[in-house]
Amino acid sequence: MSKTAHNTAVNSFNSNHSSYDVFRPSFNPILVNPFLVDLGLAEVIGDKFKFKTDKKIVEIACGTGKFTKNLIENGWTTNLTVIEPSSGMLTTFQKNFPQIKNVIQASSYEIPLQDNSVDAVIIAQGFHWFADDESLKEINRILKPGSKLGLIWHFDYCSPSQNSNAEDSKFFNDGSRYFNSFEKIGNNEKLFEKFFANQKWNEEVTKYIYGFDVNVPQYRHGKWRKVLLESKYFKNDTKDSFALYDRLISKEDVWKYWETRSYITDLSDEKKEEIKYKLFSIIDANVNENSYDPNTKLLIKPMVLHAVVVTVNK
Ligand SMILES: C[S@@+](CC[C@H](N)C(=O)[O-])C[C@H]1O[C@@H](n2cnc3c(N)ncnc32)[C@H](O)[C@@H]1O
Repeated sequence: MSKTAHNTAVNSFNSNHSSYDVFRPSFNPILVNPFLVDLGLAEVIGDKFKFKTDKKIVEIACGTGKFTKNLIENGWTTNLTVIEPSSGMLTTFQKNFPQIKNVIQASSYEIPLQDNSVDAVIIAQGFHWFADDESLKEINRILKPGSKLGLIWHFDYCSPSQNSNAEDSKFFNDGSRYFNSFEKIGNNEKLFEKFFANQKWNEEVTKYIYGFDVNVPQYRHGKWRKVLLESKYFKNDTKDSFALYDRLISKEDVWKYWETRSYITDLSDEKKEEIKYKLFSIIDANVNENSYDPNTKLLIKPMVLHAVVVTVNK
């Protein structure tokens, strides 16, 4: 019998899909469009992107469709199939995108599609939940020879997930005031450590919240990168791209954002109240005049969008 999707993922996303949809960030075309080019799904003509909507895409772990929105806006409908195990996520997905008909409730371990039938597989903010060879074998099975897998995540702090060289990576400025002072030489994890040091309140809040994530798979643990590099189902040709941005956010929404993390969603209301109180006190203790955007008076939260492309080995 094949494996099933992680319980914490399915249960927490079953209960928090509405707030997830509101408080999680969207995916900016500044990085997404070049990502689609790297996946063979678009080309650049002059200063415009032309999307190859005749190419068949499977998006695994579509959730409420935060990334799917980009594909739909770029013209995909019938050649797009989405896979998601959580019925809660799918309820919000279908409300958001009733025009998408190829919606399948399934997991990465058993994808009900034919061998060699797909031009690209995309996973947004999800591969860490099923970063294992069973999933990669199944993704390899449905991909056509020579085609690619694309992974994309937002992240809040440096981690082994960025253990690659800046010289081999692409960087995009999605409106970060720190972009020009961000060095692009050496190990990316080290570079991002300096990037996040620009806002101490965010560093401290993130480290506090990370104290609760030890028992569930997370992007930042970096296991996905090791699994991918060692897998015989994919070539050893991973390419990283990063878009740096500043999210402007109120103190209340910092909490609401973190509350959508599966490992926080799953806690009791009493525990959540305690964490919220502590989180506010960490913010208060670590803000200064540079912590706020002068126009909106909102907190500046440095963030990064990370895309990875790898070729199927078959
Ligand atoms: C953090 S959400 C990401 C959702 C969406 N892609 C986005 O970017 O907002 C992670 C998703 O992975 C899904 N998931 C977890 N395990 C999975 C598996 N084995 N196969 C497919 N999806 C899975 C969860 O149900 C959840 O919807």
